[in-house]
Amino acid sequence: MRHIISITDLSLDEIARLIDTARDIIEHPLKYRDLCRYKKLATLFFEPSTRTRLSFEAAMYELGGQVLAVSEAASSSVAKGESVADTIRTVSCYADIIAMRHPKEGAPTVASFHASVPVINAGDGGHNHPTQTLTDLLTIMQEKGRLDHLTVGLCGDLKFGRTVHSLISAMCRYPGVRFVLVSPEELKVPSYVKIPLKQGQVPYSQTTDLRSVMPELDILYMTRVQRERFFNEDDYIRLRDSYILTPEKLENAKPDLTIMHPLPRVNEISVAVDQDPRAAYFRQVRYGKYIRMALILMLLEVQA
Ligand code: CP
Repeated sequence: MRHIISITDLSLDEIARLIDTARDIIEHPLKYRDLCRYKKLATLFFEPSTRTRLSFEAAMYELGGQVLAVSEAASSSVAKGESVADTIRTVSCYADIIAMRHPKEGAPTVASFHASVPVINAGDGGHNHPTQTLTDLLTIMQEKGRLDHLTVGLCGDLKFGRTVHSLISAMCRYPGVRFVLVSPEELKVPSYVKIPLKQGQVPYSQTTDLRSVMPELDILYMTRVQRERFFNEDDYIRLRDSYILTPEKLENAKPDLTIMHPLPRVNEISVAVDQDPRAAYFRQVRYGKYIRMALILMLLEVQA
């Protein structure tokens, strides 16, 4: 039995196999439609979600399985004070696999200690979001045809943005990848996230100025300023519009730039950019379902 708490729980070979499976599902969906018959996925979401929860649920339904859903803490016994450990022991009695989102960093790790079925971290606080990263890697493969030799710009809230932390952990393992970290001073990438960059001698630069680095980028990964992680609303208001991507700001970008965003978007990409063929963020949403189908199959050890 395996749990996926961090993207580094998967080897590069396993990630490549997941991407291959997801691409095969896109090509041949009917081949996969009954593979999880009689299996149940529990989605335990103690923090809001649209894409992650619904794509997990759509993934399980498309595999012929069923879903048990908790979409907010208030509707479960967590509201009465039940611990993560007891919740997970209970849900393990009903489901074959669990996807869990929690506002506290480390909660899915605790869950994995007490589960008797695989646990997938669907986002824990400002820490990690490995299945968003799998989505991002599939998107990059679909858009660029490779995961190596790319200059990746990450822009916005790099402090609290868990999708950024997981994407750095994943992409620093591919040769020739270089990171350009664009954020206000207060929202820089935490030191612990930069440890694998330093250990692996992965090149990276940090700046507050998106426009000056735009021509270098193969990928621009925009992120929302994470209001829910701020202690002080005034700080959020001061920082929330630090970067708003507009068609004008893309004038000096590469013609084959790929613009990504894990979504939800608030104000950091103008809707005028949506018409740009380089805007991949809604294609990215679509890929999330296929890679989660591939992950469910892998963890349940189901062969196509
Ligand atoms: N990208 C992402 O995690 O979106 P949701 O919060 O809507 O699940």
